[in-house]
Amino acid sequence: MMRVTLRQLQTFEAVARLKSFSGAADEMHVTQPTVSKQIKLLHEEVGLPLLEQIGKKVFLTEAGHELYATCIDWLDSWGRFEQNIANLKGMKQGRLRISTVTTAKYFMPRILGPFCAEYPGVDIALEVLNRDRLLERLSRNEDDLYIMGVPPEGLDVESEPFMENPLVVLASTAHPMARRKNIALADLANEPFLVREHGSGTRLTVERVFHERNTPLKIRMELGSNEAIKQAVAGGLGLALLSQSTLNLDPSQKDIAILDVQGFPILRSWYVVRPKNKQASVVANVFRDFLRAHVELLEPRR
Ligand code: PGA
Repeated sequence: MMRVTLRQLQTFEAVARLKSFSGAADEMHVTQPTVSKQIKLLHEEVGLPLLEQIGKKVFLTEAGHELYATCIDWLDSWGRFEQNIANLKGMKQGRLRISTVTTAKYFMPRILGPFCAEYPGVDIALEVLNRDRLLERLSRNEDDLYIMGVPPEGLDVESEPFMENPLVVLASTAHPMARRKNIALADLANEPFLVREHGSGTRLTVERVFHERNTPLKIRMELGSNEAIKQAVAGGLGLALLSQSTLNLDPSQKDIAILDVQGFPILRSWYVVRPKNKQASVVANVFRDFLRAHVELLEPRR
């Protein structure tokens, strides 16, 4: 029977994943000699080399690959065990991983202060990514909760709407349409649009909106962030369809007008999504309840 410790396995997992001793040391908040020592002890216990270092690069040997796969399974089961014990004790503490689409970054972080004040034992990690990247995390089961505007179809998830998410048409205040009332959507077909990158939920929605209404979408430019789009709109480069959430608390908003287009704003919702096959931790449920009960914290104070 080999005698290895949890710490050694955690260290090996970090080195193997990051392919770096110094990266693992940084992540684990220890020195590099400590990491090397843990790996050396593990190596002696296993009796075969686990890692090869060529220059600054770290490679896994065959035994290293075996151990890495075992470590992932084992650390995952251990994490579930710790969470189950916390659940059995009914503890409102532990780690909570949330991923949110870029467009929700205008409001999601605001709830963290009040939430952490009420539940100081909860340690939150918040990832901000576009919709496609978020769905990749979802398929790898990396987080407890996901915040998005367009829940995935065909995946085994539970999606619950928690707040309105109106989609609006934006133009520079200097644009002639900024003063017009009741603009027909067909009139927008002649206008150049600024759109988000492929993989963004906003991009998906904009393409759907134009497609469903049989209106051609004239794309002037693709920009990789809502911020860049708003600045370009304010500068008169074109129009854009964005979530109204992107206007929260933004001082440049005075250069941007919301156009009065027929059928707009398109009323949608923000959703909190969780994988059905994942047993929800107590903290994930506590956070969902908190979100539902404190939606007013997310709404902009204008
Ligand atoms: P996005 O997602 O930030 O990737 O555009 C927005 C959404 O899901 O509505």
